[in-house]
Amino acid sequence: MARDKTLIVGNWKMNLNMHEASLYVHQLSKVVKTHRDVEVVLAPTALTLQSLSLQVNFRQFKLAAQNFYWRDSGAYTGEISATQLRGIVQYALVGHSERRHVFHESDKDIRAKVQAAIRNHLIPILCVGETAFERSEDETQAVLHDQLIGGLANVTSDELEHIVIAYEPVWAIGTGQNALPVDVSHAIRAIRGQIKHLYGQKAADNMQVLYGGSVTADSAADYLALPDVDGLLIGGASLDAHAFSEIVKKAHKGSSLAK
Ligand code: 13P
Repeated sequence: MARDKTLIVGNWKMNLNMHEASLYVHQLSKVVKTHRDVEVVLAPTALTLQSLSLQVNFRQFKLAAQNFYWRDSGAYTGEISATQLRGIVQYALVGHSERRHVFHESDKDIRAKVQAAIRNHLIPILCVGETAFERSEDETQAVLHDQLIGGLANVTSDELEHIVIAYEPVWAIGTGQNALPVDVSHAIRAIRGQIKHLYGQKAADNMQVLYGGSVTADSAADYLALPDVDGLLIGGASLDAHAFSEIVKKAHKGSSLAK
């Protein structure tokens, strides 16, 4: 993805019911200004996507699916396909650590989902990141390498232009233990290095890479100031419309805090 816009994505995970989600969007739409240099994306539970797609002004907010199945249709009870999400969401999370670790999604599943998203004109946000154990074993770069190879196999250079990568160290998710900006820079450079190796320098320079993991309204500016970071993927802090709107404000380059 072109890096001209800072992407701020709120992943609500399995929180907020229909009524709460609608109220949240109503509140957020009053406080978030539309800026040309910021794209605000909400990833609510699947149950609320249809109604929110009718409620939100897509120029103000875009929507993302938290998950979907990689087949386009068929006898897959309980699943939702990327084909069914077309017209409702513009983005889809793929390979989030909770999908990898709680639901045991493999690189093969993740690769198939990346392909399904692309096939259905959704922008996959491919999440990668190491666990605390892998970090302690100094395996961060190897894990990022494997997850990128795993998720991006079969992706062409043209398709890569419509993919976003999110670096989310597993140990930083929902723990309040956010990664140091210097470590985030380091990891994202490793990600770009891998993209360069696979697709060339231009693709690496153009790759939009987000950071996620215990980001708050207070810490957001520290990450957004990093030249390697093109946006944020926010869990807990995105559940509070006020905190989330503060983060969006910081992403706007007109903000005194921006790089
Ligand atoms: P937290 O911001 O709650 O750590 O969650 C990050 C995340 O998993 C976003 O996808």
